[in-house]
Amino acid sequence: MALRIKNLNFYYGRRKAVEDVSMDIMPNEVTAIIGPSGCGKSTFLKALNRISELDDNTRVEGSVDFFGQNIYDPQVNLNRLRRQIGMVFQNQSLPDEYL
Ligand SMILES: Nc1ncnc2c1ncn2[C@@H]1O[C@H](COP(=O)(O)OP(=O)(O)O)[C@@H](O)[C@H]1O
Ligand SMILES: [Mg+2]
Repeated sequence: MALRIKNLNFYYGRRKAVEDVSMDIMPNEVTAIIGPSGCGKSTFLKALNRISELDDNTRVEGSVDFFGQNIYDPQVNLNRLRRQIGMVFQNQSLPDEYL
């Protein structure tokens, strides 16, 4: 198992954006997440490398194990985690010097 997600809930303030998601993601496979706009796909993905918590007033419940380690453990090195679990965004807003 690359990722084992258990009972994941994610809140923006009082609004629950991800509700009770449990799933395993295997290494060396392509896994697609499909659903209507606003159903929580991006929030779910962002919870997998803890960039979702960069937004104010967020809260997460449940666990995400990445090769056996809980990414929500306070000991986790976030820079290292985000190097290992990268994201490519639909919309890039980069400063001009990067374009
Ligand atoms: N930064 C945020 N602050 C508050 N609410 C948000 C934020 N980002 C997303 N949401 C809300 O969370 C829900 C899920 O959004 P999102 O994860 O972007 O869905 P999707 O990627 O499936 O379109 C929506 O109701 C959206 O309005
Ligand atoms: Mg999205």
